[in-house]
Amino acid sequence: MKNYKRYLITSALPYANGPVHIGHLAGVYIPSDIYTRYLREKGVEVLSVCGSDEHGVPITIKARQENTTPQAIVDKYNAIIKDSFEKFGIKFDIYSRTTSKVHYETASEFFRTLYDKGVFIEKTTEQYYDEEVKQFLADRYITGTCPHCGNDRAYGDQCEKCGTSLNATDLINPKSMLSGSKPVLKETKHWFLPLDKFQPDLEKWILQDHKEWKANVYGQCKSWLDQGLQPRAVSRDLNWGVPVPVEGAEGKVLYVWFDAPIGYISATKELTPDWEKFWKSDDTRMIHFIGKDNIVFHCIVFPAMLKAEGSYILPDNVPANEFLNLEGDKISTSRNWAVWLHEYLQEFPGKQDVLRYVLTANMPETKDNDFTWKDFQTRNNSELVAILGNFVNRAMVLTQKYFDSKIPQAGALTAFDSETIAEIPRIKQAIEANLEEFKFREALKEAMNLARLGNKYLADTEPWKVVKTDPARVATILNISMQITANLAILLEPFLPFSAEKIRRMINFSDSQWEHAGSVALLAPGHGLNAPELLFDKIEDDVIALQLQKLEATKLANANSQPVQVEPQRASVSYDDFSRMDIRIGKVLEAERVPKTQKLLKLKVDTGIDTRTLVSGIAEHFTPDQVVGRQVAILVNLEPRSIKGIESHGMILMAEDADGKLKFVQPSEGVANGSTVK
Ligand code: 2FM
Ligand code: ZN
Repeated sequence: MKNYKRYLITSALPYANGPVHIGHLAGVYIPSDIYTRYLREKGVEVLSVCGSDEHGVPITIKARQENTTPQAIVDKYNAIIKDSFEKFGIKFDIYSRTTSKVHYETASEFFRTLYDKGVFIEKTTEQYYDEEVKQFLADRYITGTCPHCGNDRAYGDQCEKCGTSLNATDLINPKSMLSGSKPVLKETKHWFLPLDKFQPDLEKWILQDHKEWKANVYGQCKSWLDQGLQPRAVSRDLNWGVPVPVEGAEGKVLYVWFDAPIGYISATKELTPDWEKFWKSDDTRMIHFIGKDNIVFHCIVFPAMLKAEGSYILPDNVPANEFLNLEGDKISTSRNWAVWLHEYLQEFPGKQDVLRYVLTANMPETKDNDFTWKDFQTRNNSELVAILGNFVNRAMVLTQKYFDSKIPQAGALTAFDSETIAEIPRIKQAIEANLEEFKFREALKEAMNLARLGNKYLADTEPWKVVKTDPARVATILNISMQITANLAILLEPFLPFSAEKIRRMINFSDSQWEHAGSVALLAPGHGLNAPELLFDKIEDDVIALQLQKLEATKLANANSQPVQVEPQRASVSYDDFSRMDIRIGKVLEAERVPKTQKLLKLKVDTGIDTRTLVSGIAEHFTPDQVVGRQVAILVNLEPRSIKGIESHGMILMAEDADGKLKFVQPSEGVANGSTVK
């Protein structure tokens, strides 16, 4: 790797149209925060920039749904998101917004530079237009059926079911989100970035010069490049966004994916007058932290824009993560299938590090992963409490008890002491090696190995027994244990900043310089400690059960709001056909299960005409008790059939809902048995 002088870390700007959830944290913000904290501890010059992505069609749609303005929406969610990040210890040097004045100026200027250089292709094409509301329908303002998978709720820019990027004109049966009407095609002018012209440069830059990128990132880039890049429109007909800064562009704004990455530049500009040092010097190493859905924009589109402009550096790495699922299902804002950070903060006060830990341990680095509440509980109870918390607490309490909370002087070392001590720099190095390669799960595992080492050391040396016979030996044991604790304070800081801080407070130690870790002379003999505090506490089953209940309730609410998949109408029948069916209201007198079957109940019913036996396939939905005494609709002149050896005279009519549940068809009030249904 080149000899870089400074780092510029960017984290994907979250859309300010909803709060952030665990998927965002695990995919982007925890890795970026761990990496940045690590660099800061190393004393490297580093800036970490982020902010809210406040443009784009989804924000205008949300505003419309909530009967408010896009500005009100982004104000609300920007505040919630910013607060969640701060409370989770995600420490940016600046958290800006793409509605800031500096951003409008920066994005306009960037577009204008490319425009003046003649980079764009100006093209008039036909796009969908809603004649009722007199508006062009950009991206998500249009829905229809996906031509690839048949999903009838695909958007004009993407099908969320199969993940394909779409053009609105690809959709079958397009419909306007605004009026519900069928849109018409109308001519409109837009500016296109000719990505095809950048293909050779991008191929060299990625496929040859960046073979070290993560396989998922490299693979996705290669697949885009293999398909051949096409020009992409960088403007939209919309009234929310950065206006296209050229004449004859009234009612047009920059496409959100053109302006958003420029947000990284504007944020840096807002932060420091020295911003060009970060963006325009070859000795800056820029790293984009993103989720996998952002790969094409950060590895192909934005680099093409930067190259076209000419004075900016390109990212040196883009360590994108895959997605995190929740309890086996895709996280979804619209289905409310998520663990929202602002809710977690209220429900688990002071437990930010627990979530940081679980999400890092399960980070979807190479493939999609699953978050489950059970795993959250297990990792807290058997790892954070039982390993890390237990070690630090034992070391602290024993030092308090035997040495009045002062670091004892170590004496002669045994071979086991030396072996243990030698592990500390080895672990430090393993953490570093993994972090340098963006392997956060492994890095965390190694950091926890230091706590495991400490636990094993105490278990094997048993100072609580030795103290009776050899207090000098206990001094050495606890000196070493406390040095391990101080090392933990430094090495855990990137992962668990709140707990590292707590350890530092307990051991009265303000050092967090990475280069000092590895040593066993961090705490001098005689150094006074503060009172021990518990780092973590056990999470009980009822707390987890509550979270699972919450998700069950979401599932139920979603099922109830799902539009029913209605069967298409069957072929017509004549009135005569219909009138041949004799449907009566009758009453169930007796019911019993048909032995050796799952589904069948044998019923005795009073049809008003007679009392008869029939067999009905409802046993999986109702017990005999639930059926007896009910009035039901019966097709009485269905030919008798023998079912499991029982003559069945007629059929009970049932309504079946989308997921196959059966309900009785009953008169709204009691009627005489034998009444006809017509
Ligand atoms: O996917 C998203 O949430 C986008 N708002 C990310 C934008 S990243 C950057 F380019 F600003
Ligand atoms: Zn699809």
